Amino acid sequence: MESKETETNRRGFFKGALALVLGGLVGLVPALAGLTVLLDPLRRKGAQGTTVKVTTLDALPPDGVPRKFPVLANRTDAWNKYTNVPVGAVYLRRTSGDQVEALNVVCPHAGCFVDFSAESGRFLCPCHNSSFTADGKIASATSPSPRALDSLQVEVRKDGEVWVAFQNFKAGQPEKVPVA
Ligand code: FES
Repeated sequence: MESKETETNRRGFFKGALALVLGGLVGLVPALAGLTVLLDPLRRKGAQGTTVKVTTLDALPPDGVPRKFPVLANRTDAWNKYTNVPVGAVYLRRTSGDQVEALNVVCPHAGCFVDFSAESGRFLCPCHNSSFTADGKIASATSPSPRALDSLQVEVRKDGEVWVAFQNFKAGQPEKVPVA
């Protein structure tokens, strides 16, 4: 038969071991969360601020109606390097001759993609009904968007190649602040 003292010592040992295991688990949760963020493949680099060839002038109608184009660029994440993958989209509009304007398709209210309606001649956001004129300005006083559509720098190069400095901007604020 075991003595009372041995029994007490054993209980103390198990209590200590349990506290150690639980303490370790509690400490492990934030460590794993940090690791997940660090290894998240969505922490992609390489697309923002890149100047990419989007199309050529002959793909843009001379009547000033915007046309949507995907933007393809090289991108890297924690594990891989991707070549020529979609990183966003732009609306391009030929204003006169070889003058071109570019707008990011992302609505500055909360980040949905706007659509151009040829019928109304406006961009419409399907999420909360913001509307914008063909040159990107806010079209209605009831639009919840805090700013106009985000314009991007465009360059028409040799052989009519249309190059756009692609960039996303933070949603939900009146200022145009680039996303890193
Ligand atoms: S995201 Fe466009 S109106 Fe809300």
